[in-house]
Amino acid sequence: MRNAMGEPQTIVVFGGTSEIALAIVRRLVTPRTSQVVLACRDVDGAERYRETLNAQLAPAAVSLVSYEARSYASHPELVAEIADRVGDLDLVIFAAGVLGRAEQLAVDPVAAAELFEVNTVGGVSTCLAVANRFREQGHGQLVVLSSVAGERVRRANFVYGASKAGLDAFAQGLGDALEGTGASVLIVRPGFVTTRMTEGMEPAPLATDPDSVAEAVAAALSGRKRTIWVPGPLRWLFSVLRHLPGPIWRRLPLK
Ligand SMILES: NC(=O)c1ccc[n+]([C@@H]2O[C@H](COP(=O)([O-])OP(=O)(O)OC[C@H]3O[C@@H](n4cnc5c(N)ncnc54)[C@H](OP(=O)(O)O)[C@@H]3O)[C@@H](O)[C@H]2O)c1
Repeated sequence: MRNAMGEPQTIVVFGGTSEIALAIVRRLVTPRTSQVVLACRDVDGAERYRETLNAQLAPAAVSLVSYEARSYASHPELVAEIADRVGDLDLVIFAAGVLGRAEQLAVDPVAAAELFEVNTVGGVSTCLAVANRFREQGHGQLVVLSSVAGERVRRANFVYGASKAGLDAFAQGLGDALEGTGASVLIVRPGFVTTRMTEGMEPAPLATDPDSVAEAVAAALSGRKRTIWVPGPLRWLFSVLRHLPGPIWRRLPLK
């Protein structure tokens, strides 16, 4: 249960090795935090993250559970198991996601569907399982890592953008559906963030880093915001871009 200062006692991350999510965890953990659960698809590989975080975040105990975003039938049981182990889920971050190679995704039906399975379908089943738990508890905050790529889908990476648009629309509706239950959803729309997901890519204008995203998420959670853009000016930029006429939008040199 969060205390009056809004400090979570338990934090769970789906996509537990995400650089952005781990920066958020580091930013949000306080001496009151007792349990951090990283739900990852490669538990053995994630052991090094657990060890480092355990040392950094003590007295919070960091544990790992196996999680595959595409195994959506397993998500309700997994959420129940985590809650049995750590108690109420105060803060949950959905961070699982893949970027893929845009050129391949644009022409490969199977690769595109697989990306949707992780970014969108897995997000829906995971977040709904979490929301059901939040309803039982009567509280809980869910942070969903969306993307500005979903705000208006660019031709250069339309499959990834569309997968994030689906996740984002779902998260908006879920936040509305949870109104009055004590639970809430924060949608985070970062632009280009320098993590291993974007390694080797040329940074886009207004590129940012995981710590800046974490700082913005911390401020948004305490301000009870529902949607944020990171960095903030992307909100105003995209409020213009999303209304541009199609012929102009398609000609913009957006990667
Ligand atoms: N970096 C950016 O520029 C940027 C911008 C906007 C939004 N985002 C979104 O922010 C989120 C985190 O991204 P990041 O930059 O922190 O990248 P990251 O470090 O690569 O994190 C992605 C996470 O998703 C996990 N994942 C991938 N496929 C999975 C699957 N099938 N089942 C379970 N987990 C799976 C990865 O696990 P493994 O360690 O096993 O690969 C990793 O933990 C993503 O949803 C991304 O789309 C990123």
